[in-house]
Amino acid sequence: NKSQAWSARFSEPVSDLVKRYTASVGFDQRMAQVDIQGSLAHADMLESIGLISTDDLQAIQRGMQQILQEIQDGKFEWSIDLEDVHLNIEKRLVELIGDAGKRLHTGRSRNDQVATDIRLWLRAEIDTSLELLRQLRHNLAALALKHAETILPGFTHLQVAQPVTFGHHLLAYAEMFARDAERLQDCRKRVNRLPLGAAALAGTSYPIDRERVARTLGFDSVCRNSLDAVSDRDFAIEFCAAAALIMMHVSRLSEELIIWMSPRVGFIQLADRFCTGSSIMPQKKNPDVPELARGKTGRVNGHLVALLTLMKAQPLAYNKDNQEDKEGLYDAADTIRDTLTIFADMVNGITVKADAMRAAAMQGFATATDLADYLVKKGLPFRDAHETVALAVRTCEEQNCDLADLTLEQLQSFHASIENDIFDVLTLEGSVAARNHIGGTAPERVREEANRILWETQN
Ligand code: ARG
Repeated sequence: NKSQAWSARFSEPVSDLVKRYTASVGFDQRMAQVDIQGSLAHADMLESIGLISTDDLQAIQRGMQQILQEIQDGKFEWSIDLEDVHLNIEKRLVELIGDAGKRLHTGRSRNDQVATDIRLWLRAEIDTSLELLRQLRHNLAALALKHAETILPGFTHLQVAQPVTFGHHLLAYAEMFARDAERLQDCRKRVNRLPLGAAALAGTSYPIDRERVARTLGFDSVCRNSLDAVSDRDFAIEFCAAAALIMMHVSRLSEELIIWMSPRVGFIQLADRFCTGSSIMPQKKNPDVPELARGKTGRVNGHLVALLTLMKAQPLAYNKDNQEDKEGLYDAADTIRDTLTIFADMVNGITVKADAMRAAAMQGFATATDLADYLVKKGLPFRDAHETVALAVRTCEEQNCDLADLTLEQLQSFHASIENDIFDVLTLEGSVAARNHIGGTAPERVREEANRILWETQN
């Protein structure tokens, strides 16, 4: 049992299964680089207050440099006997530099060490996600600008409602992803606080300089309570919540892409590189990427619930339960990174079938509201106008035609105030152009918004 860092206290070894059950090195080794970064900042601080010598510090720096190299070259030997990333690296450091390596852990515990590692790691993931959201919004805005005048039916209840421009529809997603980015930025503020110095739970009796460590590692501030610093993972839960919302938005977009690509609808084609065929049906081109993204939403939601549940009944301060925080968090970050990367590219690979969109918008009386609004402008109360148009729609349905197909005389039979200018109102172009206010679907507004977002998201 001599290999364990805490071995002296124990009289019998753990079984192989318990060893595997309790070890985290299989997954937490992906934090090796930030673990070393944290250790170097800690060592620098220990030297600054005279707790270790300059020689020791330099030895630690040299040793860590070599370890990092070994890890990058895939030559580092990870051992399950050493439980986790922290003990594996520390053991190797002692092998390489001797006593100086044994002094590194002065005034520190794996409890504040791991909390620091996760925060450093997550901070970088958040920055990557923010960059990917920027890219995705940029590409959505570029496509929206091209389709500021392309008209498709807008739906409520998946029934034709009113005509909208495709650019406007795309910019709806740009808004969702903007809020997702805001959420990540907000979460980052609470991620970016330094737990190191909390030691196991109570702080340490050494005269440590936490502000110095925070500065070295780029943290905005230090955690103000040692018990809280080592034990809470609310920042990781916030990240998973933000990730779940990103996936929810991606999933809604996916659903629409899938519907739009269905031959029954035929509004778009996705580039072949995002689709696959069928092993039996030669004609198939399936939107696998959006389908998978829709599916992967479930696992990110799961990670959020798992983390909330992990934390809910833990007494202060650190408990080993917390080791279970990592795999879900990693997977949430990996899933949104891959998903956002692919979607940014996939948006550029959308081919728009403007004719099919237009034909669909011509069906289903999409401009009925415009006729009602026209009557209101002629002096009718809205509820009466609504009733009048409902009668007109019913007549059209019986005659199997559109409102715009009715003659002026027929239209006037529903209300005498209708004049020849009604046909401007009943066109799709007239309908969208009339909605010319902030947040409206008019091509002019869509161009304005798309340009604003393009400007905001430029590199
Ligand atoms: N591997 C542990 C974790 O992931 C590190 C902290 C362990 N601390 C302890 N006292 N067992 O949380």
